[in-house]
Amino acid sequence: MFSFSRSPYMTALFSFGVFLLFIFLQNTVIYTSLQTVFSTGGLCACKKCVMDLNDDDWFFMRFNPTVPALLNRRNSAMRSDVFTWWKGLQSDPKKANFSDVVDVLFSLFPDEEHHVVTDPNRCRTCAVVGNSGNILGSHYGQLIDSHNFVIRINKGPTKGYETDVGSKTTHRIMYPESAVDLDNSTHLVLLPFKIKDMLWLISVFTTKHVTSTYTRVRPSINAVREKVMIIHPAFIKYVYESWLRKHGSYPSTGFITLIFALHICDQVSVFGFGAKRDGNWHHYFDNSLAHFSRGLHRGDYESRTIHELLLMDKIALHKGV
Ligand code: C5P
Repeated sequence: MFSFSRSPYMTALFSFGVFLLFIFLQNTVIYTSLQTVFSTGGLCACKKCVMDLNDDDWFFMRFNPTVPALLNRRNSAMRSDVFTWWKGLQSDPKKANFSDVVDVLFSLFPDEEHHVVTDPNRCRTCAVVGNSGNILGSHYGQLIDSHNFVIRINKGPTKGYETDVGSKTTHRIMYPESAVDLDNSTHLVLLPFKIKDMLWLISVFTTKHVTSTYTRVRPSINAVREKVMIIHPAFIKYVYESWLRKHGSYPSTGFITLIFALHICDQVSVFGFGAKRDGNWHHYFDNSLAHFSRGLHRGDYESRTIHELLLMDKIALHKGV
């Protein structure tokens, strides 16, 4: 009579068969779940998602989702090289201790993991609105306002420019020297270039005694304390190294904002970036020349990277007029 114990070859064959069946079933499960994720548009519910895989690894060589975009108590400890780099961005005569400042910050402002959760059922669309004059006459206002998040930068106003830039602002990225009043539905997102910027933020919501940094700054602005967020210093260094490959001294506010949007949004549309068709770099709201193509910020390299993001289908770029 046939017996497995008496037929080692049959035993080996049987075991191999079981092994093959196991591998097949395992791969079927992995394949089916990947298909489910990607057939619904990847890691979000939009038709196209920032996190969608590309044939090219250009994007994922730069994009690092593990770098914290926003500061809180838990993620505030930094490698010493990161801290030293950040401290060297702008001169800061104030010798405040960083962890003491962090303690005060998060006793005042929400100490949360803002915007970090991704959700395959979510389609969060974001408009990043830069301050270039190329947005004047564009009639982008309605399109901009149709996004879930509308992220504006520095002093870029909406009043009087609604047809071209829209009227909704969910987030405004600013630093003390560029601060403006916000309405009660807007998140103040501080982009800190020095510890004094954090002290200014604390002062705005408490004593209002900080009136200058390297120039005069507003001691008080209208903003809601519960909506304050702070860009993580390590995020600025990451943008400079990973995205700008250390071109220029450090990234422009607009470029940091754009990369910030890639980290917190599922779809990103970009407005008001770059020179006007005639080559000039004026703001849309004043005649001051915002020259980014050389100097502190390498606007030319930033523009090339933005163009690459467009080619990779990671952003929609609205070039204006
Ligand atoms: O001048 P400001 O820094 O306030 O402008 C905000 C951002 O808008 C800049 O950091 C830059 O990225 C973008 N911008 C631009 N072209 C301009 C003006 C501003 O790309 N002509």
